[in-house]
Amino acid sequence: VDEGYGVKGLSDMDIKNLPKQYVQPLEECFTNTTLISKESIPIIDISNWNDPKVADMVCDAAEKLGFFQIINHGIPVEVLEKVKNVTHAFFTLPPKEKLKYNKKHSPSTNVRYTTSFVPEAESALEWKDNLSFFYVSDEEAHALWPSMCRDEVLDYIQSCEPLVKRLLGILMKRLNVTEIDEAKQSLLMGSRRVNLNYYPKCPEPELTVGVGRHSDVSTFTILLQDDIGGLYVRKLDDGSWINVAPVNGALVINIGDALQIMSNGRYKSIEHRVIANKNENRMSVPLFVNPNPSEIIGPLSEVLATSGEKPIYKQVLYADYTRHFFRKAHRGKDTIEFA
Ligand code: SIN
Ligand code: FE2
Repeated sequence: VDEGYGVKGLSDMDIKNLPKQYVQPLEECFTNTTLISKESIPIIDISNWNDPKVADMVCDAAEKLGFFQIINHGIPVEVLEKVKNVTHAFFTLPPKEKLKYNKKHSPSTNVRYTTSFVPEAESALEWKDNLSFFYVSDEEAHALWPSMCRDEVLDYIQSCEPLVKRLLGILMKRLNVTEIDEAKQSLLMGSRRVNLNYYPKCPEPELTVGVGRHSDVSTFTILLQDDIGGLYVRKLDDGSWINVAPVNGALVINIGDALQIMSNGRYKSIEHRVIANKNENRMSVPLFVNPNPSEIIGPLSEVLATSGEKPIYKQVLYADYTRHFFRKAHRGKDTIEFA
């Protein structure tokens, strides 16, 4: 099968067996010995930002589990529904339309259609197709992004901006960073990436993964998922896996490596993975709030000054950190050893 057909192409062929490139080592698959937690991740109503209890719930969740869901976040449902609709529409395009955005043909490295994660570096592939956008400006998006989903993705990014600022404000306050000036904005939230993820139904889901175990390299991630489910998060204390059950209208927030590093380990960037599904196509749309690639990240001086702690991570150029992440297969939390 031509790479442009992606996993969606395989799924459409109604194959009965999983092609061997997708067979994952048993320890990466969900089996009857996988520890599944009965817990769920917190669901936080953030309609009243000024309530100190809301701030406490957000920061507590960021410290303990690194994952929570938010409801009453103020992002219009139409904006979310439209992003989901165009995601489905993109991946059901004929292969030749999707191929216009692959490594060979895409007009820019800032728009990229791929299958799996880093196929050239993976010994087993992931059952996922993906369209990734690195946001530079509306002008660039208008010139380069596929017009069939461009406006919807831009609207999504734009609508999330107030949320991004408020969440960051709350998370920073607990770290004694009270003012987020321009320099801090660039450091904490100086760039954005949006992925449209598509996980077509899979003939033998128990033999593969949708996404392998990893932690995000972001400051934090805002994740929109549909109602299918399949995302699991690893609990720090006992290593069991918590299902992130879809909640209508909610967004999932998770802390990424950049914030774990900058908070000197106080906020946790947690391992997560996605299982494949026998009967349903699933989609998700993460918005990664990232440092500007030109920033050097390391434990914040405010954190070290108030806690008296020694830095547990070194300073790294964020562009180098992400390059390192995107060069290897998903392998749990090993990227952070780079810092
Ligand atoms: C990811 O973490 O890479 C994807 C999450 C999801 O699809 O739910
Ligand atoms: Fe992730």
